[in-house]
Amino acid sequence: MHHTLLFTVISVLFWSSRVSGCEGDCIVDITRAFLGNYSTPVGGVLNDLATQISTSMLPVAARPQNPLTLLDPIIIAYNNVSYDSLETAIFPSFFHGKCERFSKDGKDPEGCPKPNCSVVCGTPGSMVHFYPILRYLAFANTRSVFVSLMKPGSDTFTQVQNLIDDAQRCSATTRMCKRRRRSIKFAAAMNANDDVSHHRWASRSPMDLGFSPATHGMGLSPRSSSTASDLGKILGQFGPMLEKACGGHANNDTNALQGCSWEMAMKAYILSFP
Ligand SMILES: *[C@@H]1O[C@H](CO)[C@@H](O)[C@H](O)[C@H]1NC(C)=O
Ligand SMILES: *[C@@H]1O[C@H](CO)[C@@H](O)[C@H](O)[C@H]1NC(C)=O
Ligand SMILES: *[C@@H]1O[C@H](CO)[C@@H](O)[C@H](O)[C@H]1NC(C)=O
Ligand SMILES: *[C@@H]1O[C@H](CO)[C@@H](O)[C@H](O)[C@H]1NC(C)=O
Repeated sequence: MHHTLLFTVISVLFWSSRVSGCEGDCIVDITRAFLGNYSTPVGGVLNDLATQISTSMLPVAARPQNPLTLLDPIIIAYNNVSYDSLETAIFPSFFHGKCERFSKDGKDPEGCPKPNCSVVCGTPGSMVHFYPILRYLAFANTRSVFVSLMKPGSDTFTQVQNLIDDAQRCSATTRMCKRRRRSIKFAAAMNANDDVSHHRWASRSPMDLGFSPATHGMGLSPRSSSTASDLGKILGQFGPMLEKACGGHANNDTNALQGCSWEMAMKAYILSFP
């Protein structure tokens, strides 16, 4: 009796996971593959923005050795939310459900679930067939997560603004720098265990601000409102810069986003899942 029930439960689980396509490892690994691939164009844009911030907003003595550290609050927050956000955008927001629902006889339509399934459902073949949409989803999600983290007035924007204000003061007041560095290192340590989406460009010793020692007074720091407006202008370039880094044409067209397509490798990878 018990055995029969258990067998039934197992068969149902096995059968439903077989027919419903991309689940479990397939979802996790494909989401991670896009996050990993995006670390290159995203890293390039972040480095560019950080360099602009450092050179246009900080006196020479206050510039960190690695400008990217100025964006650490944004990078940490991105690493925290990017996986869930992208997974949801792909599965189930677009790719979900069984393909059989598209046929009258209850069987999978031709090419479904693999290798090339012309109805939108949650299978590898569907992701291959609608690859231009998948590619655009990954782009649009990456862009929107960063745009919201860089939005003037957001927590992460304000944290970056504070780092810049402090760096400006640092060049005049070494003691204050040390205090700020300690509290930021603590915040970094709190995040050190989170390796879900620990990207190459964020994995360098994250919070070593590396300010040059103060050699001469730089005067008073400018008022925060001007920091906010200058910072807003620089970070506001993120969307257009990412689109450019991705080869332009941010849409669902067949030949869109060629710099962030990875089409051959990604299709082969998608089809490697059962
Ligand atoms: C993109 O991801 C796929 C699947 O993981 C991988 O095969 C490919 O090498 C990656 N390409 C780049 C440029 O990172
Ligand atoms: C990480 O994200 C969760 C929500 O997904 C949020 O509650 C938490 O505060 C975030 N942690 C950091 C360090 O940003
Ligand atoms: C999938 O099939 C369509 C025709 O339905 C074809 O145009 C397309 O090239 C195929 N894609 C792949 C990756 O085989
Ligand atoms: C891309 O295609 C999806 C699904 O058809 C649609 O919802 C979305 O609006 C399209 N976006 C663009 C920019 O073409």
